[in-house]
Amino acid sequence: MVRLEAEHLLPVTSLSVSEPVPSDTLRDSRGRPLRDLRISVTDRCNFRCTYCMPRDLFGPDHPYLPHAQILSFEEISRIAGVLVGLGVRKIRLTGGEPLLRRDIERLVAQLARLGVDDLSLTTNGSLLAKRAAALHDAGLQRVTVSLDALDDATFRRMNDADYPVARVLQGIDAAAAVGLGPIKINAVVQRGVNEHAVLDLARHFRGSGHVVRFIEYMDVGSSNGWQLEQVVPSREVLDRIDAVFPIEPLEAHYAGEVAQRWRYRDGAGEVGVISSVSQAFCSSCSRLRLSTDGHLYTCLFAQHGTDLRGWLREQGVDDSALAARLTALWQLRSDRYSELRTAATAGLRKIEMHYIGG
Ligand code: GTP
Ligand code: 5AD
Ligand code: SF4
Ligand code: SF4
Repeated sequence: MVRLEAEHLLPVTSLSVSEPVPSDTLRDSRGRPLRDLRISVTDRCNFRCTYCMPRDLFGPDHPYLPHAQILSFEEISRIAGVLVGLGVRKIRLTGGEPLLRRDIERLVAQLARLGVDDLSLTTNGSLLAKRAAALHDAGLQRVTVSLDALDDATFRRMNDADYPVARVLQGIDAAAAVGLGPIKINAVVQRGVNEHAVLDLARHFRGSGHVVRFIEYMDVGSSNGWQLEQVVPSREVLDRIDAVFPIEPLEAHYAGEVAQRWRYRDGAGEVGVISSVSQAFCSSCSRLRLSTDGHLYTCLFAQHGTDLRGWLREQGVDDSALAARLTALWQLRSDRYSELRTAATAGLRKIEMHYIGG
């Protein structure tokens, strides 16, 4: 186990909210229901965040997935539809950068027809200003925007694509203006890289109605050279904020929420922390991930997925056979990587973040 000092551990704040779960709910081998589907729609990105797609490993010759291996919108919608029948209530589109997938609004419209409680998308915000209205019109309910710093020097260094903060802020404003808010803003915090951004971001978004969530840097994939020393524990993030803007804990919005919620005592809204390293949340993990090339992963840190694409395309499978396979996959699931993380597991060859979308 990775050991963190006792003072780094968070108090139990994200009280799990009990919701009535029907007795026929599909459960995995640890009793966790299937509730969320995260769909990666492209393995491409126009950023080169140093913690996700370091430029020296993802250069111009990087072999992205060929067109023939990428699921069509119809294939994605079909799989999603069957999963909704098995209990999925939330769908999130991710990438890479999902807005690089051509005509993504058409997929949004197809998924919106499935009638889930929550249909959202996580984006780096670079293309959001242009696309927000069309996404909203297609039925997208909200967006989450990644933004790791408010000063250009740090942000440009981290995205390694010379992309300015101002354009992401324009994207956030445009999304809010068309009704895709309140918007969540994700900031990955790395020791010695953007610790100062914590207060900048908190100050900037206080009172805006948007919610910044500070994420502990995770050992996803095997490209980012993650080391425990680079993680800034959420406890420290919260202490820094609390010292300037006093905060108090809030209850979770829903059972299994990844972020722990805190509110400013002066009423200026809320902030959150996502503490996969210092306080694993596997015990309530209800997430299934579908990759761009049609593999299913039962954990963000999985080493192997289940190839649905080949099976669906070659065998002419009908929806009931698909449902049976998905049911068996979930029932067998036992993943709890973040609870088992050690310095040694960080070195395993795991799926990459830009491929599975976080
Ligand atoms: P909502 O609560 O629905 O708004 O979304 P979310 O916070 O679940 O999703 P988002 O895409 O914003 O992810 C926030 C951060 O949490 C990212 O760094 C994700 O990689 C991380 N994350 C999301 N789900 C999991 C998970 O199941 N396990 C771990 N370890 N991290 C996760
Ligand atoms: N650790 C934590 N969060 C990460 N993200 C990407 N890579 C990492 C990592 N190694 C975040 C992105 C995005 C979300 C989906 O995951 O910044 O906001
Ligand atoms: Fe950065 Fe997200 Fe692109 Fe990865 S997928 S390089 S985290 S913008
Ligand atoms: Fe779920 Fe795996 Fe994340 Fe644990 S580490 S919360 S099992 S995705």
